[in-house]
Amino acid sequence: MRQVESLRSSLNHHLHRYHVLDDPEIADAEFDALFDQLQSLEQAHPELHSDDSPTQRVGATPLSEFAKVPHVLPMLSLDKSTSAQDIDDWVKRCQGRLAAQTQITYTCEPKIDGVAVALIYENGVLVQAATRGDGQIGENILANVRTIGAIPLSLIGDDYPHRFEVRGEIYIPLADFDAFNERALAKGAKPLINPRNGAAGSLRQLNSKITASRPLTMFCYSLGWTEGDWAPKSQKEVLDALQGWGFRINPLVEVVADSKGCMSYIANILEQRSSLGYEIDGVVVKVNALEQQTLLGAVTRKPRWAIAYKYPAEEATSQLLNVEFQVGRTGAITPVARLAPVFVGGVTVTNATLHNMDEIARLGLHVGDRVMIRRAGDVIPQVASVILSQRPSDAQAISLPTQCPSCASPITRLDGEVVARCSANRNHCPAQRKECLRHFASRLAFDIDGLGDKIIEQLVAEDLVKNSADLFKLDAAQITSLERMGAKSAENLLQALAKAKHTTFPRFIYSLGIREVGEATALSLAQHFRSLQRLRKAVVADLEVVADVGPVVADSLFHYFQDMDNMLVIEQLIELGVQWPEMPSVDVAGLPLAGEVWVLTGTLETLARSAAKAFLTSLGAKVAGSVSAKTTKVVAGPGAGTKLEKAQQLGLTVLKENDLITLLKEHGVDVSD
Ligand code: IVH
Repeated sequence: MRQVESLRSSLNHHLHRYHVLDDPEIADAEFDALFDQLQSLEQAHPELHSDDSPTQRVGATPLSEFAKVPHVLPMLSLDKSTSAQDIDDWVKRCQGRLAAQTQITYTCEPKIDGVAVALIYENGVLVQAATRGDGQIGENILANVRTIGAIPLSLIGDDYPHRFEVRGEIYIPLADFDAFNERALAKGAKPLINPRNGAAGSLRQLNSKITASRPLTMFCYSLGWTEGDWAPKSQKEVLDALQGWGFRINPLVEVVADSKGCMSYIANILEQRSSLGYEIDGVVVKVNALEQQTLLGAVTRKPRWAIAYKYPAEEATSQLLNVEFQVGRTGAITPVARLAPVFVGGVTVTNATLHNMDEIARLGLHVGDRVMIRRAGDVIPQVASVILSQRPSDAQAISLPTQCPSCASPITRLDGEVVARCSANRNHCPAQRKECLRHFASRLAFDIDGLGDKIIEQLVAEDLVKNSADLFKLDAAQITSLERMGAKSAENLLQALAKAKHTTFPRFIYSLGIREVGEATALSLAQHFRSLQRLRKAVVADLEVVADVGPVVADSLFHYFQDMDNMLVIEQLIELGVQWPEMPSVDVAGLPLAGEVWVLTGTLETLARSAAKAFLTSLGAKVAGSVSAKTTKVVAGPGAGTKLEKAQQLGLTVLKENDLITLLKEHGVDVSD
């Protein structure tokens, strides 16, 4: 029947747009309607059944086991390299084995951290999908692989070889992994351990309905073998052809000319690693020309024509030696894991944040446990999970102390709040005082050169400085009385302090360390009130009018300015010469993004969230917390969930962080600091 054919082809088209090109043309609901229509027609006409219909992705009956299938060409592994020297040596070896004058080019590709599979297509239809197994014999996981939207059941066009094998990596994107685990936890189900493990486990299900519920996708990276007369010349040509037939190919593949080109690609991808949205463990470099690949051949399960450049692992195991409780600027008590030193993500890690007691409960963490440590990009190391099977018999449960480790005041945890706090005022708790001073001196606040942690610690311990105003009262004799502070350092510090007195109003507000008032909020407040007089007189209702100030922030601000101690310090700062130029009045209507309402959701991996907000605000946009009919644009990063869904339902423009950065740069915003 014509209609069935046309529905199938239309659904296949939309699956390809959605899963492979990441560029859907219709809304999910429209897709579902077409799908339902096809399903009813197929039910009414069983004679029209076809295995490669989009309705047949999930198998009806679970398997009892996977059939073993031999690989026509073995699935090899790769030699590893970790330095420019290794790559250079390899390039020289390739060159040495081929005739000296032969030009060699190389393809560079991200090395996806997932599960390798080999797919066989016969007359354009997927007929087998095998795991790597031992490289010679794998398992046929066709039923599971058919559930993956990014893998075509039938190919586009008609110029493909009549039988051929495609290889690639099945994986779970990070945002989907997080969203899946969030849903699993909400349902009380078991979360996936990590994306790679999740992908492997999902493909090993005997019931393909389970696999279908997992957010798997695939990048294809090579051709196994072909039958027919297609004779591609290079790896790049193979990838382009595969892409044309509907396979998902990594868009970051590049052809380079020499080992220098390889190294700059490797450095570039490492820089992007944390914003790719999927896990990679390195880069694969391949000799581009297939003829040269054949000439180079393979040795014992490893081809000579390819090499893996391995990045430092982002996960490693260590032992939790102790948990210490740190007191933050606002009194928040943060548990910190002290770990046996472990090399992860390219550095030796001895501490990891545990965030709060809920996190400790979620992990089920005990002192003495073996733990999985994760350090992705420049992110603070995290304890990812506990390896329960290796828990020592003397492992100790972890409880929240009752007293502040710094000032011994009671620790309180308000109902409904995740954070526990030292109940003392910041002026009475040395730890809070220290943190306030650190914040005050930090780069985005008063930016006081030379006022490092060690000095602040001594200034507080010696009671030379009780609050930020006291910093400006220090004299050379007091400073030289500190350890390791000579006359020269004292003079430098005094000069830095004098210089810092000339600040800006937004920086001044930020430096006060008011709870919930970050850099972006400080900027909004400064622009709105324009003078300290007006800001300190504002009542909650006045404050709530300001962009990105909600009831919680307004309340926190109001209480801050009600506190006599705080006001006294502010007055002293001004008396001591702290000053700033008047805020210019901004004509928002004339700014490029005037009238636009933006929403940021998911993780931003390059910009700090507060900075992104401040940049957008500086261009005249409002930045809102939730998506509504008023929203103009949405920026979605990894982990975006319901806000992104809603934006898609409303048909709003959704940008990636990179698009935002491009736009900001186009408007002359310097996003580098
Ligand atoms: S090419 C001869 N390209 O890395 C082997 N492999 O050690 C050719 N992998 O298990 C492999 N991304 O599954 C190749 N772009 C890529 C890859 C890639 C990930 C995996 C592959 C294999 C392992 C090689």
